[in-house]
Amino acid sequence: MIGVSTSTKDLARLTADTAACFAFEGDGEPRGVDDARLRRALAAEMKAERFEGRRRDVVMWNANGRPGCRRFLVIGLGPEREASATVVGDGCARAVRAAERFAAKKLAIRLPATSDDAPAAVVRAAVEGALLGAYRFERYLTDRARRRSALDRLEVSVEKGSRGIARAASLGEISARAVYLARDLVNEPPSVMTPAEMTRRARQHAKGSGLSVKVLGPPELRRLGTGALLAVARGSSQPARVVHLVYRPRKRSSKTPKVVLVGKGVTFDSGGLNLKLGNSMLTMKGDMAGAAAVLSAMTALRDVGCRAEVHGLLGLVENMTGASAFKPGDILTTYSGKTVEVGNTDAEGRLVLSDLLAYASKRLKPDRLVDVATLTGACVVALGTLCAGVFSRHDELRDEVLAAGRTAGEKLWPMPMFEEYLDALQEGPADLKNIGERWGGAITAALFLGEFVPRELPWLHLDIAGPAFFEKDAPGAPAGGTGAGVRTLIRWLGGD
Ligand code: BES
Ligand code: ZN
Ligand code: ZN
Repeated sequence: MIGVSTSTKDLARLTADTAACFAFEGDGEPRGVDDARLRRALAAEMKAERFEGRRRDVVMWNANGRPGCRRFLVIGLGPEREASATVVGDGCARAVRAAERFAAKKLAIRLPATSDDAPAAVVRAAVEGALLGAYRFERYLTDRARRRSALDRLEVSVEKGSRGIARAASLGEISARAVYLARDLVNEPPSVMTPAEMTRRARQHAKGSGLSVKVLGPPELRRLGTGALLAVARGSSQPARVVHLVYRPRKRSSKTPKVVLVGKGVTFDSGGLNLKLGNSMLTMKGDMAGAAAVLSAMTALRDVGCRAEVHGLLGLVENMTGASAFKPGDILTTYSGKTVEVGNTDAEGRLVLSDLLAYASKRLKPDRLVDVATLTGACVVALGTLCAGVFSRHDELRDEVLAAGRTAGEKLWPMPMFEEYLDALQEGPADLKNIGERWGGAITAALFLGEFVPRELPWLHLDIAGPAFFEKDAPGAPAGGTGAGVRTLIRWLGGD
């Protein structure tokens, strides 16, 4: 991981091979540059390059021979009235990307003063953004020439007198490290990242971050009666696993709230006997992104000073078509006792989650229950690939998580849970069917899950099918796993 430091130096006094600063739309010169000569030189370059300060505008000025930095970047931040810590964070990701094109080893970034957010919040977002911009997954590239040149040091500079800067930078590093872990887990090929391998990685990372781990395999799961989760695993040669992680804060009292996080961990979703068609299977190694997000966020809890007791349940299975595969028409008895008729083996995520949600509610008795899942293509149709859907009947919990998403810089949007749509799931020979009608698929999936959680328990479902995996490089992340949900969970559970 890149080494991070902070300072209060002016742009002209920073030493690095590349230094970056920012300008808003309509600015004639960059922000945060006290040295008049450097400011004028950059202003002239901005003018010559017709830089307008829009979010995709970048100017590079080569200061050949000058002491300090060899190269200066001016990064556009868009309209100043929309400025926020998140906008600056995204700008830092772009600064890193631009610096890498010039094979920079050390990048120094001079942050602008934003009127809205406190300097510490801007520093946290800047460090997070810059580190996330530098992420790459190159384990399998044997051709060194195709590897991007790696940045190894980052210095972030803010105006004098700003308090809490070092802690803010370290919080940024902590959550970026957690996002890196989630991306790495998703990016591994599906024949590597099996339920057994996810379990191994969970053990490894739990150890380094003060989490306790319990693993349930097929015999224990059979004894518990998680018939839905086990049915999904039946078509695979890879046995199912449920990993139970626990974080206990150092200071506890009878008032310490208990939170349970449940993650969908389908390590590969072929669709099962309702096999996926065409290219729709291509990204399905990412169907364990919910479990990856839960595990990764939990590795950060001690370091961010989380005051709640947090349990994580990872439901790890592979959805395949083997000779013992579960079939459309099968009737499963779930952990809750409710029976489910399989209408489609590709709606497997809700089966895995139904057992874990019921188990969490009954056995762990949480104060709050949140599940994270790449659950439905319908949610991607509704909100696109940049935004996750939030489903909850509990306004307070929903508002908390939406607010956490906003400060974390992740796009979340509230979705309805219209009771009427439940009718479509309550037909046929079993208590429930695992698919409803074609329309409103993200909502019916959420309603299905809701049948396994007591009404009075504050529960929230996060459908990350869109943002968990990018098919091509995007501003926020390169193609592949994105770590969606991790930053939101950390903000929601974090101590500050
Ligand atoms: N893992 C998929 C959902 C998904 C789709 C995630 C696209 C990421 C991108 C899920 O298991 C699934 O296949 N859902 C079906 C449900 C349908 C059969 C009711 C879907 O969305 O098509
Ligand atoms: Zn599926
Ligand atoms: Zn799936």
